[in-house]
Amino acid sequence: MVVFKTTSDLAFYLKNKKAEGIKIGFVPTMGALHSGHISLVNRAKADGLFSICSIFLNPTQFNDKKDFEKYPVTTNEDIALLLEADCDVLFLPQVSEIYPDGTENTKTYDFGYLDTILEGANRPGHFKGVGQVVGRLLEIVQPDTLYLGQKDYQQCMVISKLKQVMGLDELNIAICATMREADGLAMSSRNRRLTEPNRTLAAIIYQCLVSIQAKRDVASFAVVKKECFDLMNRKGFETEYVALADASTMDLLDEYEPGRQMVALIAAKLGEIRLIDNILL
Ligand code: PAF
Repeated sequence: MVVFKTTSDLAFYLKNKKAEGIKIGFVPTMGALHSGHISLVNRAKADGLFSICSIFLNPTQFNDKKDFEKYPVTTNEDIALLLEADCDVLFLPQVSEIYPDGTENTKTYDFGYLDTILEGANRPGHFKGVGQVVGRLLEIVQPDTLYLGQKDYQQCMVISKLKQVMGLDELNIAICATMREADGLAMSSRNRRLTEPNRTLAAIIYQCLVSIQAKRDVASFAVVKKECFDLMNRKGFETEYVALADASTMDLLDEYEPGRQMVALIAAKLGEIRLIDNILL
């Protein structure tokens, strides 16, 4: 695996590689890698692409300063995992490489409606920061396929919009299944910050999602939503939302709609840790 810390070195290397005809599969991350991230690298390789992973803890997408400061940084372990996965390139830039003109002077994008609901509403400025960094990374890496985890469903929709706004018609976006722990908890870098009792409780989020999915033809979503809220709050979660949306437009739905591809989404805090997850139905 070749490691690059500067944009210019990476760009020079990729220019030569592209001249050889390689196709690039790109996995952007903020580090603290787990099997979910590695599954994206594996998928890029299985698709026959030259795999590039970036690790960049992007300061502009954290609306909560404490969350940024406490975000796990495990670079040596991350490198070991990427080596084991036989990742081809790791891009490990500093803030000044991604934002040479300063964060304030780096292009941002407008995601309209998508930025007004759920994660957008609960984390003001978050998607602005995601768009800013992913926009920069796409300019630098110019991948053929971008690999994203379904766990951050709304982020996947935002990045699909970014592709459209940036006019990247040739870019494929592969949204890959969420990797889960044995009890169903979605893998996330933040899980390692859960206390032991909260780690056990955290699986309730997935249980609620499965119950929302299972009851789609037999119950009212309003009733199931209330059951989930009540259960989670009783167990000590601070539940932000339990929502149902159209899977492609993210239009929020009050009720199940037969024949419509939907997604159920939950965000909740357990102690200091904010968790999100979703399921398609
Ligand atoms: O999902 C993440 O880890 C981040 O939001 C991303 C896409 C790497 C941008 O910083």
